[in-house]
Amino acid sequence: MTPAPHTVAELFSLHGRTAVVTGASSGLGARFATVLASAGATVYAAARRLEKLKRIADEDPRIHPVGCDVSQEADRVRLMETALDESGRIDVLVNNAGAPGAVHAADESADDFADVLAVNLVAPFHLARLLTEVPPSGSGRSRSVVNVSSVLGLVSGAPLGGAAYAASKAGLVGLTRELAGQWGATGVRVNALAPGWFRSEMTEGLFADERSRRWVERGTMLGRGGEQGELDGALLYLASDASSYCTGHVLTVDGGWTAR
Ligand SMILES: NC(=O)c1ccc[n+]([C@@H]2O[C@H](COP(=O)([O-])OP(=O)(O)OC[C@H]3O[C@@H](n4cnc5c(N)ncnc54)[C@H](OP(=O)(O)O)[C@@H]3O)[C@@H](O)[C@H]2O)c1
Repeated sequence: MTPAPHTVAELFSLHGRTAVVTGASSGLGARFATVLASAGATVYAAARRLEKLKRIADEDPRIHPVGCDVSQEADRVRLMETALDESGRIDVLVNNAGAPGAVHAADESADDFADVLAVNLVAPFHLARLLTEVPPSGSGRSRSVVNVSSVLGLVSGAPLGGAAYAASKAGLVGLTRELAGQWGATGVRVNALAPGWFRSEMTEGLFADERSRRWVERGTMLGRGGEQGELDGALLYLASDASSYCTGHVLTVDGGWTAR
């Protein structure tokens, strides 16, 4: 699928496109929903905490909140149907919802492990499958799946990682490459974003604790955690036509954490 000629200003524009962002009630996902909307997209922002989503949607009329537990198949189907029925298209899927799981494998039962995989790996797979069932918009532009993995899917985070979390995020990398290979010819691009350490509800304790915060700073070449906004460019790149010839790629934005 060859993209139409564009100006530089159009390269990152999402005007006229529809995006679905999971895990949009807080942290990175809330920011992603806002960034995609500010690039012009109509955004369906999904998570379990509807009140939080509504507050984010109050800031931008292009953001539409959808209550959704991504571990539930019926919720996933309803989310994609809502976006398609209301906007007539889905161009971008950001699989961002994530569950941390236990830090220590010894504290994690097999059921706990499976619960983390249901959110972090099974849901992204199924939502991406549902995207492929949406008829293409006819614009000739590729559609984009952005799977939010983690540096912990690439390297061990011990002692502060998590077995199910690392397995799910590494699985997301394999899933990204496999789906990219299977769907490239159909005009669906599949890439992964692998952030380093960013402040959010999930990492609140880590940044609040001086020892672990210093551990992050020591292991990061830039000597600090990521700031709000430092994933915006990478997300927009993967979501937009700027990355029209990019698929099966894992884009790390980690201040150098994995470069050592
Ligand atoms: N922060 C980092 O340093 C970092 C680094 C690498 C990767 N990541 C990844 O980035 C993503 C966002 O994490 P975050 O750091 O922004 O943490 P966060 O603030 O805790 O956000 C997690 C989001 O996932 C949603 N979520 C969790 N379980 C869900 C479920 N069953 N159904 C629907 N939504 C669910 C939560 O919404 P509800 O509770 O309202 O459902 C929330 O919006 C995750 O995939 C995480 O693994 C984060």
